Amino acid sequence: MFVLGIETSCDDTAAALVSDGPCLETNIVYSQVKTHERFGGIVPEIASREHINRIVTVVRAALEPLPEPDALDGIAVTTGPGLIGSLLVGSQFAKGLAFSRNIPWIGINHLEGHLAAALLADDKPSYPHLALIVSGGHSHLFKVSSFGHYQCIGATLDDAAGEAFDKIAKLLDLGYPGGIAIDKHAAQGNPEKIAFPRALPNKKVFDFSFSGLKTAAREHLQKHGQPKGQDLFDFCASVQEAIADVLSKKTIHAAKAHGLEGVVLAGGVAANSRLRTLVQERCDKEGLWAFLPPKPLCTDNAAMVAAAGWMRLSRGERSPWSQGAVSRWPLDKNHAPS
Ligand SMILES: Nc1ncnc2c1ncn2[C@@H]1O[C@H](COP(=O)(O)OP(=O)(O)O)[C@@H](O)[C@H]1O
Ligand SMILES: [Mg+2]
Repeated sequence: MFVLGIETSCDDTAAALVSDGPCLETNIVYSQVKTHERFGGIVPEIASREHINRIVTVVRAALEPLPEPDALDGIAVTTGPGLIGSLLVGSQFAKGLAFSRNIPWIGINHLEGHLAAALLADDKPSYPHLALIVSGGHSHLFKVSSFGHYQCIGATLDDAAGEAFDKIAKLLDLGYPGGIAIDKHAAQGNPEKIAFPRALPNKKVFDFSFSGLKTAAREHLQKHGQPKGQDLFDFCASVQEAIADVLSKKTIHAAKAHGLEGVVLAGGVAANSRLRTLVQERCDKEGLWAFLPPKPLCTDNAAMVAAAGWMRLSRGERSPWSQGAVSRWPLDKNHAPS
């Protein structure tokens, strides 16, 4: 069975093809970052228009390996959560294409998509496990009993981890999105140089808070001025350490408290090198396994959506033609919001 995945929930226009397995055939991502960077963040109206301009080219490229057009068996598309205008471009395109080919379509939750990136690996993680989803819009801990069964056991009370990276990078004039720039600068810095705060340190609290870190970073800059050279590297390493330390500790505490044997990372911030190292080291120490997806499958892509869609379509699930897209859709609520 060939399944096309489409992802347009934010500022990436992405399409991918999977075959049985799910096995990845193509993974095409057109990033709009150049369009939005001069605004210092994503402009929703412009993002929707860019999706419209790009989607045909991106989908065509993803479908390239199909032996014949009729070989496509189904289409999966992100229908939430995300920017509603962006989601509507992908979902209406997917429905139109499925209708014209007379094949089924399925709406996928973007967060389930992030978790499904793990299904594309040769050594797929076993169930149950604990998942940490960290991106520009989310910082969540889920107990995953099996594919499709999620229980939220912790979430951010304010900013998401990626949002904290991006906002602090903006204070440092490192461009948008800034997580990857902080990661690069941090590689040459001393993570112990500045003792940034770690919020909610209680071992039994699985929620996160990053607003205090953002304030501490701003106050440090107001007091000491913009860092340059080694000071900039040290600042980035210290910020990154504060975020990665809290995320990795809480993930492991949550896994142990819920009697889970392993953890899966997902979302754009899962590409962060320090977070990956700390999670692996701390899991090894506690006798837990850790699944770290390949970096290109951490940030938004359609391969993960196609993988989740392949799982659901091959079980016979279908979305009705009347289903639209929704900007809010908690992962632990029922599969198909109307
Ligand atoms: N290496 C990295 N280190 C830290 N943050 C990163 C890294 N790579 C990407 N990010 C962050 O990931 C976020 C994007 O996550 P992604 O899942 O692609 O998008 P969305 O938040 O729209 O779902 C951004 O906040 C970005 O700064
Ligand atoms: Mg994402």
